[in-house]
Amino acid sequence: MAVERTLSIIKPDAVAKNVIGKIYSRFEMNGLKIVAARMTHLSRIEAEGFYAVHKERPFFKDLVDFMISGPVMIQVLEGEGAIAKNRDLMGATDPKKAAPGTIRADFAESIDANAVHGSDAPETAAVEIAYYFPALNIYSR
Ligand code: PPS
Repeated sequence: MAVERTLSIIKPDAVAKNVIGKIYSRFEMNGLKIVAARMTHLSRIEAEGFYAVHKERPFFKDLVDFMISGPVMIQVLEGEGAIAKNRDLMGATDPKKAAPGTIRADFAESIDANAVHGSDAPETAAVEIAYYFPALNIYSR
């Protein structure tokens, strides 16, 4: 399987719950290496730009309001099949439907406060990684 990179965001609800380390440990235990990371409090402009593909959806404003409600932890994960592996670890978008043992089943409360984001395909991963990290700030060996 090819080595990939994917963008992961630990959202304001999970940062507030103080579970960044627990989520990082799931990445590491499952062969995903953190090759870039930064904590930030997104501006409305940054969050609207990141989620621009969803701007016509009814939940767009709620999603942006939530993503700017507190600090987030953003990271690039690298590993074999990293995009699908991270999505598997995250679980379904709606935590009520997420499989037991997934990050959303264990740490998320609702579909609008669902703990984590992960890129869904190689093309989106490339765009999302470039949105937050200049190539020079990604450290891989
Ligand atoms: S996904 O992950 O793109 O396949 O899921 P999707 O259902 O298309 O949702 C896209 C993002 O919107 C978030 N979302 C919502 N936010 C607030 N309220 C409601 N009702 C809602 N439904 C979906 C969902 O968490 C996705 O955000 P990210 O950050 O990509 O996980």
